[in-house]
Amino acid sequence: MTGLAALMEYLDPRFAQIDELRTRTRMWDAVIEEVRGREIRIGDHWLVDWASCNYLGLDLDPDVIAAVSEQVAKWGTHPGWSRMLGSPRLYPEIEERLTELLGAPDTLTLPTISQIHLSVIPALAHRGTVMVENLAHKTIYDGCVHARGLGATVHRFRSGDLDRLEDLLKEATITGPRIVCLDGVNSMTGNLPDLPAYHRLCREYGALLYVDDAHGFGVIGDRRPDETSPYGARGNAIVRHHGETYDDLILVGGFSKAYSSLLAFLALPTELKNYVKVVAAPYLYSGPSPVASLASVLAGLEVNEVRGEAMRGHLYRLSKRLLDRIRALGVVTLNTDDTPIVELPIATDRDLVDVSHELWRRRLFVTLAPYPGVPKDQVGFRIQLTAAHTDEQLDHLADAITDLAADGTLRQAAVRDPYPVAATDTLSR
Ligand SMILES: Cc1ncc(COP(=O)(O)O)c(C=O)c1O
Repeated sequence: MTGLAALMEYLDPRFAQIDELRTRTRMWDAVIEEVRGREIRIGDHWLVDWASCNYLGLDLDPDVIAAVSEQVAKWGTHPGWSRMLGSPRLYPEIEERLTELLGAPDTLTLPTISQIHLSVIPALAHRGTVMVENLAHKTIYDGCVHARGLGATVHRFRSGDLDRLEDLLKEATITGPRIVCLDGVNSMTGNLPDLPAYHRLCREYGALLYVDDAHGFGVIGDRRPDETSPYGARGNAIVRHHGETYDDLILVGGFSKAYSSLLAFLALPTELKNYVKVVAAPYLYSGPSPVASLASVLAGLEVNEVRGEAMRGHLYRLSKRLLDRIRALGVVTLNTDDTPIVELPIATDRDLVDVSHELWRRRLFVTLAPYPGVPKDQVGFRIQLTAAHTDEQLDHLADAITDLAADGTLRQAAVRDPYPVAATDTLSR
């Protein structure tokens, strides 16, 4: 038997279901030929794109697009150095603006959030204890698994179970650091955690709260009287949205969703920033973000100042209209907080491939959520709204969902906690 054949025997069979999507539906692993506003062409079929995370619609913004060629003409396409060696001035400009926007002590930018979790969680944890929320993003888990490999103890707790978290904090080793990791706006449910309660508990037990707000940054922010929606103003993420401080808290976020650019950040005290600069492989050794992304981040920050409130107002109005329609249908959606992430589980007797064919027929491009990416009882699809969607597109989507609800495709009745996990569960994801 060849080495490859032997290896193939050990491939995880659970992933066959995802592979089936790849071979049986055009809505998976698709090649997009063309983009026209929020419509995309696959083959010769035009669909409305409800699968991107470009929440502010900056990917299509003429000011942002124009800024890219200007900076590329100045800097070339790509800084060839790792950040340790040198960074184009665009980086300090972004970090200064970002620090002001977040109201954080300091910020550090690296290409992706995945790189940040994988390198920073182990570097902070050492041989201490990491407590990770069961709903946290897969990339946080990857960081935790790496931390465990390097000597940390990792425990998992059920989202919102503060009593269990308090027990874990009490039991955790006093000698090593204690870090509590969770999502801000959750990538699957669209809901916000009770950040003030987590923060209070962490401060009480001398632990550090580590929050990934990939989906909140750009969307939710400061609450103030002139806000255009309950998302708040400025899109400066969950810490500001809750009026919390950055004491004993590290915020991680990214520009790859609301800002449509390949860049991510940590908001943290300057002493820790300097430490991360000397221990984190993505700062020391990885290639940097391309100039086009640095340019679109800077231009996006500018657009956010000038037009961000109008964009968020529109985004909220669309999201609320869709969610009101869905809730009136009695269909399950995990979203209770009106953010632009709308997950719709399908009925247990329906096949996701068949559902994807029907969505395709109706010109709807969505994110399919198959097992084992989600638990079996949560198989379905996810819709993401952006400020570049129109009311007409929303009506078309809502009508299609109404039909899918009527023919029994969508799950009925409320399911509030879709991911039950034993309170004592340790890391297994
Ligand atoms: C909550 C969350 N964290 C991290 C990531 C990964 O971000 P990046 O592409 O910057 O690695 C995602 C991407 O979907 C996400 O939803």
